[in-house]
Amino acid sequence: MNAHNHPAAGKPVGDRKLNETTKLAQQNTLLSPRFYTTDFDELDRMDVSLVREEWDTLLASMRSDPNKGHFKRNEEWDDITLDDVPIELRTELVDFLVSSLTAEFSGCVLYKEMKRRGNNKDIKELFTYMSRDEARHAGFINDALRDFDIGVNLGFLTKTKKYTYFKPKFIFYATYLSEKIGYARYITIFRHFERHPEKRFHPIFKWFEQWCNDEFSHGEAFSLLMRSEPKLLQGRNKLWIKFFLCAVYATMFIRDHARPEFHKAAGLNIEDYDMKVFEITNQCTSQCFPLMLDLENPAFLTTLRRLNRLSQRIDVATEKGGLFNKVKKTGFQIAIAANFIRLYSLPSKKNTIPEVSRMVPAW
Ligand SMILES: [Fe+2]
Ligand SMILES: [Fe+2]
Repeated sequence: MNAHNHPAAGKPVGDRKLNETTKLAQQNTLLSPRFYTTDFDELDRMDVSLVREEWDTLLASMRSDPNKGHFKRNEEWDDITLDDVPIELRTELVDFLVSSLTAEFSGCVLYKEMKRRGNNKDIKELFTYMSRDEARHAGFINDALRDFDIGVNLGFLTKTKKYTYFKPKFIFYATYLSEKIGYARYITIFRHFERHPEKRFHPIFKWFEQWCNDEFSHGEAFSLLMRSEPKLLQGRNKLWIKFFLCAVYATMFIRDHARPEFHKAAGLNIEDYDMKVFEITNQCTSQCFPLMLDLENPAFLTTLRRLNRLSQRIDVATEKGGLFNKVKKTGFQIAIAANFIRLYSLPSKKNTIPEVSRMVPAW
C-alpha cells in the first residue's frame, strides 16, 4: 500500500491540509490522551523545603541532561516506510504512535505552561527540564510518523485540542501515574524486544531504554512535589488516589486490548504485559502512594476483562447506530459504571514498604 493511500494520509480540509493523524490526536474520547490545564498560581505556591535534599539531587541530574544526545537517529535506526509494515499492522501501529505522541505532547504543553506562568524558582526550573524532555520525545515520535508521510501538526493541535481542567492535586495524581506507567511500559517493551529482536517491527523501540529513564525522573519529581505537601497523600485524598489508580489501570487495559494485531506482531500477550506493567507501577508508586491495588485478587482481572468486553460492545453498538443500539449502548454504559464501582470497591493493599530507594530504577 502506498503511504498516500493510507487512511491516515493527508486530506484537504477547507483550505487547510489537515491529515487524519492530526484529527486522531485531536480526539477527546474517554480513552484518548488529554491535554490538561490547571490552577497555575496554586501550583506556583508549592514549597519543596520538606524534601529539599532529594529535590536538589534530582534537579542536578535533570540539569546535567543525561539524554541530551539520545533522541537522534544513528546507525541503529533502520529506515522504514509504511510499505514495509505488514498491512494488518498498519492501522494499529499508527494508532500506537499517535496515542504515544499525544501523551508525550500533552506533558510538553502542560509543563511548558507551568514553566511560563510560574515565578517560583524551583517550579520554573523543574518544568523547564520536563518540557524540554517531552518536546524531544514528541518530536522523535513525530519524525517516525513523518517517515510514513503522516506527521501530526503539533502547532495546530496546541491551538485546537480541548483542554481538561484539573486542580493541581489531581494533576499530581494523574501525571505522576502516567509518568510511572510510561516508564513501566517503555522498559517492559524494551526488555521484551531485547529477548525477541526478531519481533521488533519498528526501530523506535530500540530507543525505549534510555527514554524510560526520563519518564522515571519525571515521576520522581511529582512524587517529591506530593511528599512536600504530605496531606496530599493522607486522609480523604487516599480515596482520590485509589480512584486515579483504578481509572488509569482500567483505561490502559481497554486501550491495549483495542490493538490486538500490534501485540500479536510483537509476540506480547496483552493481559500478561498489562499485569507486568501494573506490577512495576505498583512498586514504583509505593514510594509515595499510601495504597496500591491488589493485583493478586482474582476479581481485579475479571473486572477489568468485563470492563473491556463492555467497552467493545459499546463500540459495536456505536458503529451500528440506530435507536435500538442507542438503548443498548446506554445499558452497557450503566454496566461499565457498575463494574468500575466494583473495581473501586475491591480492597486495596496498604503500602507497608518502608523507605525505598527513590532515585534508582530497579528494572
Ligand atoms: Fe515523555
Ligand atoms: Fe514524562
